[in-house]
Amino acid sequence: MTGNPVRLARQSSTLSQRYSSVRGHSRKLAGPLSDADATAQSMADASPAKWHLAHTTWFFETMVLKPNAPGYRVFDETFNFLFNSYYETIGARHPRPKRGLLTRPSLDAILAFRAHVDVAMEALIADGPDRALADLIELGCHHEQQHQELLLTDILHLFAQSPVRPAYRDPEPVAVADDPGDADYVAFEGGLIEIGHDGAGFAFDCEGPRHKTYVRPFRIADRLVTNREWMAFMTDGGYRDPLLWLADGWGQILEHRWTAPLYWEDRDGAWWSMTLRGMQPVDPSAPVTHVSYFEADAFASWAGKRLPTEAEWELASADVPVDGTFAGGGRLRPRPAGPPTGGPRQMFGDVWEWTRSPFTPYPGFKIAEGAVGEYNGKFMCGQFVLRGGSCATPDDHVRATYRNFFQPDKRWQFSGLRLAEDA
Ligand SMILES: [Fe+2]
Repeated sequence: MTGNPVRLARQSSTLSQRYSSVRGHSRKLAGPLSDADATAQSMADASPAKWHLAHTTWFFETMVLKPNAPGYRVFDETFNFLFNSYYETIGARHPRPKRGLLTRPSLDAILAFRAHVDVAMEALIADGPDRALADLIELGCHHEQQHQELLLTDILHLFAQSPVRPAYRDPEPVAVADDPGDADYVAFEGGLIEIGHDGAGFAFDCEGPRHKTYVRPFRIADRLVTNREWMAFMTDGGYRDPLLWLADGWGQILEHRWTAPLYWEDRDGAWWSMTLRGMQPVDPSAPVTHVSYFEADAFASWAGKRLPTEAEWELASADVPVDGTFAGGGRLRPRPAGPPTGGPRQMFGDVWEWTRSPFTPYPGFKIAEGAVGEYNGKFMCGQFVLRGGSCATPDDHVRATYRNFFQPDKRWQFSGLRLAEDA
């Protein structure tokens, strides 16, 4: 241990609380799941809940304990192969599309693995890790929070494949809200602005460096696009007009026969949707969710608008508190907009907002050395940035600079949109 002992003790107690809170929350999320629920995999993009619980633990064992905790005993030598996600630096791994075939180890064994790693991690944190090691543990906590959201979205996708449409929790109907009224547009002058994380507090590497970028004058909607607006797009033939679609998006329409957002079902002329609370009527006033980038872009074309760039989104969110419908409230569905404020609403929580910006490195971005360098940098091709977090995102996880990213055809995340236009 080096440095001021009082400061290090305080830092290690904060880190200890942070670690145990994040780890405890993952166990809580798994609470409603049986071993079978936690084992099945519904598609190659989604992972079993059991795998998420194990992989996040593998991250701490492999990245933190093995190199830094002398005498640490590996829980099970086979787990490195089973629960490495995509780290080439660390070696061979079980193929992603076959994670659902891992009927063993059982859920109980994975929970025992978690407990084993937690004991060693708590001892390491109590010992007063230096700054670099504390930063790595912090990264492990944020990594686990990302998987907490994926655990929820992957369970929703799994349960949506079941003819009995199980509810992850509380299947009672959620009240339908009043129409939030037309969106207002908030004008920004733009100019030479700065975006990106400035280095104070935690951020993922892809959020920096903070840098200057030029933004033309624009206007951005003060709320998210609603299901009511989306139904108008559908009724007007939005999914049948190739002129509204990017060529790759139209290819998806032809291949998958999309006619509505993912999880929507027409039941006797009324739209219902599979949710984490089971089948629920689509609330016309709530933000549309489970749409791909291609659908978001086509909707914007139909509306005579466009998606915002990530720089525009970040500028518009600069004075907005990071507050909204996140996972902690337990609603697990996006909420209709509150009354107008004169500024942008629903910037944080509810649904991840597709931007028209590709996920590419900011000027000056450098990939870190070692395995953690594989965290984000190698995915900077073929994906689009989403901003703001969702109703499945842990409460203290996102920031204005946070960059989520998915391929443009993906729609199993809580992804929606807000419109923008040139001023
Ligand atoms: Fe991961």
